[in-house]
Amino acid sequence: MKKRDTWKTRWGVILAVAGSAVGLGNFLRFPVQASANGGGAFMIPYFISLFLFGIPLMWIEWTIGRYGGGFGHGTAPGIFHSLWEKNRFIKYFGIIGIFGPLIIFIYYTYIESWTLGYSFFALVGKYSQINSPQQMRDFLSGYQGLAKNQFFSNLGWAYLFFAITFLLNILVVYYGVSGGIERLSKIAMPTLFLSAILLVIRVLSLGTPDLSHPDWNILNGLGFLWNPDFSALRSPRVWLAAAGQIFFTLSVGIGVILTYASYLSKSEDVALSGLTSAVTNEFAEVVLGASIVIPAAFVFFGPVEIKNIARSGAFDLGFVTMPLVLQKIAFSRFFSFLWFFLLFLAGLTSSVSLLQPAIAFMEDEFNLERKKAVKIISIVTFILSQPTIFLLSRGVVNDLDFWGGTFCLVLFGTVETILFAWVFGMERAWTELHHGADINIPRIYKFIIKYITPLILIIILISWVFGKDGRDTIFLRNVSEENRIYILGMRLLLILILLTLGLLVKLAWRKRKGLK
Ligand code: PFF
Repeated sequence: MKKRDTWKTRWGVILAVAGSAVGLGNFLRFPVQASANGGGAFMIPYFISLFLFGIPLMWIEWTIGRYGGGFGHGTAPGIFHSLWEKNRFIKYFGIIGIFGPLIIFIYYTYIESWTLGYSFFALVGKYSQINSPQQMRDFLSGYQGLAKNQFFSNLGWAYLFFAITFLLNILVVYYGVSGGIERLSKIAMPTLFLSAILLVIRVLSLGTPDLSHPDWNILNGLGFLWNPDFSALRSPRVWLAAAGQIFFTLSVGIGVILTYASYLSKSEDVALSGLTSAVTNEFAEVVLGASIVIPAAFVFFGPVEIKNIARSGAFDLGFVTMPLVLQKIAFSRFFSFLWFFLLFLAGLTSSVSLLQPAIAFMEDEFNLERKKAVKIISIVTFILSQPTIFLLSRGVVNDLDFWGGTFCLVLFGTVETILFAWVFGMERAWTELHHGADINIPRIYKFIIKYITPLILIIILISWVFGKDGRDTIFLRNVSEENRIYILGMRLLLILILLTLGLLVKLAWRKRKGLK
């Protein structure tokens, strides 16, 4: 067996997993989800999801990742096969653990590149003259190539920043797990936290900037986000939104944490490390993420307008409202840069984690050199990214987000839980999780992981696929006639990728049999 890369330090791996988890989801997606789904009341289904399947999935992935790594496997096909050797098909199911991250990567990295572009624009003052939401929106659509206007006449800038972001991602994985990802996380994560804390302090000290509106103050801004509307809890949508946020924010249920954990040695702790990475993410989300965009937008736009702003979604909030708000405070260039650069660092440490499974697959199962694997994956992902850039207006990103960022997540999460608790067996699983552990997990979790987690995940899966939103997306009901062909084309491409991965798994196993 070829020698695999390993993490250099314990902090390194925790920061890398936390780096994957802390991302655009914490600073943009979470505040929008929370304010649109019951405010403080949203935290009830949110924390229930965190305790009943978020943290359990974290533990499961750290444990089975380390276990599979012991057999030289860093991705789900091999890891699932080591957990259930007798089953010939389970390795094919593991394809999702490579496919899902790739799908998320191709749209996530494009959005991440906007944050790099806006960091630059903030510094050079490219949008510093803009002071109305409409103009700021025009700026964004011009940048995205959706409209030609006085700010942008083509996609050139967006493409340039995409190319830089893409290359940076490739560069990090080119240097490997310890030389690239771990090194990046050790620098980027502290910088990110420091920037976020600075921004939070700035926002919380805004007080009442507009004295003609004394109620537009920071306390009411926090109140807008946190005051609970318990009636929201009657809607199943709110519960599903909370569950979806937990999956997405923790990066669980998709295969990336499996891969990161496969570079641990058997004697290293997973119980405390897994918990620490989850807690770090929650701090970045519930404390930092919640204290920036929404309260800041409230004090400048007031209680009526904030409702429309929150409803207009995460992109509007991050790229339209936030630049306008930051324009109005002292040292605005510095704080605007800080905001977008913070998002960029959060995005980068997440997107590299999405690339690693495909690379690990080629290294582990085909014995490819890392550098060669990185070259192949960079060509493939570069080509696959083009539709998200050029077909943004056609709704391609939404569709990719549904399949990669919603459907695959729950499906994969459900299967790995069942494999862990029922196929591998809860007794063995519990022992494996505690091997080398620095904490004793409360025994109630043995019951939760065995019964509650799979049950909840199956319910979520069914409600998502058969619920109205899921059906509407699957059958393209919200897509206009002329956009359908693009979405269908993209789906065909996704099926081709799945089939190719299936074939590769078949080849890899055949080769291995031949070697025995
Ligand atoms: N957790 C990331 C965020 O909150 O932005 C997104 C993400 C990264 C999801 C990696 C899934 C993943 F595998």
